[in-house]
Amino acid sequence: MDTIIFGNGRLGRAIADAFRDRGIEPRLLGRPTAGGHPPAALTGADLVVDATRAEAVRPSVEVALAAGVRRFVIATTGWDADREHIERALERHGAAAVAAPNLSLGAAVFLRLVEQAGNLFERVDGFEPYVLEWHRREKRDRPSGTARELVRRLRTIAVDDVAVIRAGSSPGMHLVGFDAPGETIELRLTARDRSAYAAGAIAAADWLTAEPRAAGLHPFDVIVDDLLSRSPQLPLAATA
Ligand SMILES: NC(=O)c1ccc[n+]([C@@H]2O[C@H](COP(=O)([O-])OP(=O)(O)OC[C@H]3O[C@@H](n4cnc5c(N)ncnc54)[C@H](OP(=O)(O)O)[C@@H]3O)[C@@H](O)[C@H]2O)c1
Repeated sequence: MDTIIFGNGRLGRAIADAFRDRGIEPRLLGRPTAGGHPPAALTGADLVVDATRAEAVRPSVEVALAAGVRRFVIATTGWDADREHIERALERHGAAAVAAPNLSLGAAVFLRLVEQAGNLFERVDGFEPYVLEWHRREKRDRPSGTARELVRRLRTIAVDDVAVIRAGSSPGMHLVGFDAPGETIELRLTARDRSAYAAGAIAAADWLTAEPRAAGLHPFDVIVDDLLSRSPQLPLAATA
């Protein structure tokens, strides 16, 4: 499978390693010098994984579409303002993309646990939810895409309420608590490295190549549902 990874930073390199572990040598492309990636350099690719920066996603997807690429995994976060435009472009070209602010399978299950916890605590008097996230100092978007998704699923708090730490080299920690006068319940997701994100990117690539998928953007939950449905020991149902 001819695979291109846009972005040769921490995540792009981790995803490249995961592809190599499966015997696929991807083309790992860093920031282009000027005027974007030349379409000729992308022709023939079966799949593009984007692990760049928010502002690069739209031009990168557009040039890859023009070069004939029809499968995308968009790992980059913070490009919500371009979401509608990108979705329309994918649909026009009959292309499918999996896009997720957090590609870790553990995080996907964590999001479902948080959603269920939120539903339960909403029905118990006196509990107030909170969200805290900690990432390495250089991470640009704040709060993180995962924190935004946690807020969306909790429903009762706003993005502005998220406590954000930018310090050191943490690849990602998210803490969700439910606090009442006499007790606190906490759910915590801690990434130790980027391997879980890379494994999710591979799972998304497998899902895209297994059979033709509908044009447009697909959430990572679809892949999680697919994996869980094939694991009878894990009778978890989607709640999104
Ligand atoms: N979905 C997930 O599970 C997940 C997990 C972790 C991170 N992320 C997100 O993934 C993105 C990358 O994270 P990271 O930790 O790898 O960041 P990073 O280390 O800063 O790497 C990003 C790289 O992309 C390069 N780049 C910028 N524009 C480009 C373009 N048009 N084409 C190719 N490369 C380009 C950057 O070059 P310059 O330095 O020259 O700008 C940089 O080397 C971020 O948005 C992050 O939030 C998502």
